[in-house]
Amino acid sequence: MYETLFGTDELKLNDEDKYGLSWANLGFWDGNHSYSKAGRNLAIELGKSLKLSKKDRVLDVGFGLGEQLLLWHSFFQINSIVGINPSNIQNDYAQSRIIQEGLSDKIVLNSGNSRDIIQFDSNKFDKIIALDCAYHFDTRLKFVRDSIDLLSEGGAVGMIDIFPTEKILKWPQKIIKSMIAKFFHINKKNLISIREFEKEIENIKIFKPEITDISNNVFPGFCDYFNRKIIKDKSGLKKMKITSMVLRYLHNRDYIRAFKIILNKRI
Ligand SMILES: C[S@@+](CC[C@H](N)C(=O)[O-])C[C@H]1O[C@@H](n2cnc3c(N)ncnc32)[C@H](O)[C@@H]1O
Repeated sequence: MYETLFGTDELKLNDEDKYGLSWANLGFWDGNHSYSKAGRNLAIELGKSLKLSKKDRVLDVGFGLGEQLLLWHSFFQINSIVGINPSNIQNDYAQSRIIQEGLSDKIVLNSGNSRDIIQFDSNKFDKIIALDCAYHFDTRLKFVRDSIDLLSEGGAVGMIDIFPTEKILKWPQKIIKSMIAKFFHINKKNLISIREFEKEIENIKIFKPEITDISNNVFPGFCDYFNRKIIKDKSGLKKMKITSMVLRYLHNRDYIRAFKIILNKRI
């Protein structure tokens, strides 16, 4: 099932090799630059806020086509990276890149979804990452709760994530479910506001949350990218072109927002 939803189409979006070949996220935009640069910027934005450092042992959940795994190593000098992702097509691509780069001893991939992270040992990781994907998880809150045991003291979870606003959550549930949850493959239990999420995190009493709204650096740049002639003329991107139009509609009406979320485990 995951293979039909999460494949290799995003390879066609990547347009500047020096910034990466296989980003599959919405990007962090600060100008009219390439998609590859935006994809990389989003990962760097999260990595810096997570204070990734070379002593960290990292778990990356939902790594897509694996570009970020290579970046954790090259940019942040991380030497111990475990990835878990449910799409075998993506995992095969990511594995081939890791072999090509000679990083098989530093980056180990697993096939599985966010519920499978409980297979890892306690205190095995210092940082757990979900870059533009936790809205797909079953559920985002379960993922955060399951992370607690895996994290070392002083460790942290870092996510780039999308939430509906209270404005759209007032709509009849049926419409929201079919419009947003179905179209974006979001578990409907994840359709909560950022305020509700923050309250749930505070109730757990384990994490100190830092939440930053990055919507204006995410949606306009991503949606404008699909208006560029070079992308308009490219075939095989129909679903993503529709996605960009739906995102523009939802963002312009303040129905969705993108957040950078750092959850520091209290010592
Ligand atoms: C928008 S892509 C982001 C990919 C990558 N993080 C990036 O930034 O390029 C979403 C990713 O979430 C993964 N995913 C979907 N459902 C998941 C689940 N239940 N558990 C873990 N990963 C999941 C997909 O396989 C896909 O790679």
